[in-house]
Amino acid sequence: MKREADCQGNRDEELQLTEAIGQVARDAGKIILSAREIENHTTVKSGHANFVTEYDKRVQAFIFEELHRILPEANFVGEEDGAEQFRPEYREGYAFVVDPIDGTMNFMQGLDLSVISIGLLREGEPWIGVVYNPYRELLFSAVRGRGACLNGEQIHCSREPLSRSLVEFGTSPYYPELSKKSLAIAGEYLKRGADLRRFGTAAWDLSLCAWGKLGIYFELRLGLWDYCAGALIAMESGCRVTDIEGNPLHFQGPSSILCASAGAAEEDYLPGEILEPQGE
Ligand code: IPD
Ligand code: CA
Ligand code: CA
Repeated sequence: MKREADCQGNRDEELQLTEAIGQVARDAGKIILSAREIENHTTVKSGHANFVTEYDKRVQAFIFEELHRILPEANFVGEEDGAEQFRPEYREGYAFVVDPIDGTMNFMQGLDLSVISIGLLREGEPWIGVVYNPYRELLFSAVRGRGACLNGEQIHCSREPLSRSLVEFGTSPYYPELSKKSLAIAGEYLKRGADLRRFGTAAWDLSLCAWGKLGIYFELRLGLWDYCAGALIAMESGCRVTDIEGNPLHFQGPSSILCASAGAAEEDYLPGEILEPQGE
């Protein structure tokens, strides 16, 4: 049986580490809130409409420096390093996986919906996850096998059926070749769920599943930094988190993702089961 979340009980080593990582995320959030004139600090990355701001780089540099103090022996994988290749050494010991601003487009547009995502792999497996929304001061965290928490209180995913649940999806915006399939799957879920949403930050989407607000979240391609922390938090809340075909997540680089609440997971919810054959 799964243990109840230990959000504030024993101050043992792994909870202390989780708290320390959470504090780094909170401090990094202040940099996001202090941002001004973002449009003057923006450049273009490779891929469709893929932007990066000076703040993405500044927040990542801050997080790396602080995390290095906490766990000096750990490797670092950060979105703004630009290396999507999963290196063999990340499978040994510890590796932090960081998305300094998940939801850069929201950030650039002043939508006040972006999060900081910090995952920690141990021997290549997800061990600790922290996602922080600085605008609402919401800190999601999970330690593998110990449940998921929001601001120190245990959370569980939803048990509602899909017909009463919101379905959230990501469009994999930097990969236009995936648009048609994304929209086809979303169209099927629209028939089955209560309604669709698209918030623009994958780590937030996964955290909302953990918080019991969503029945399904899917996206056809994410980087490891997009899903590492959020997927662990969702799993620890009771969600079933797999790739889009229902296979276990590998946590070794880019992947599709499908997160189903406990309620949705009781139904035929995989796209392979619900998608009508599409004409090209
Ligand atoms: C993006 C967001 C978005 C998702 C994209 C991600 P970024 O991350 O999470 O919701 O649809 O696939 O790349 O670029 O804002 O860090
Ligand atoms: Ca991201
Ligand atoms: Ca980012």
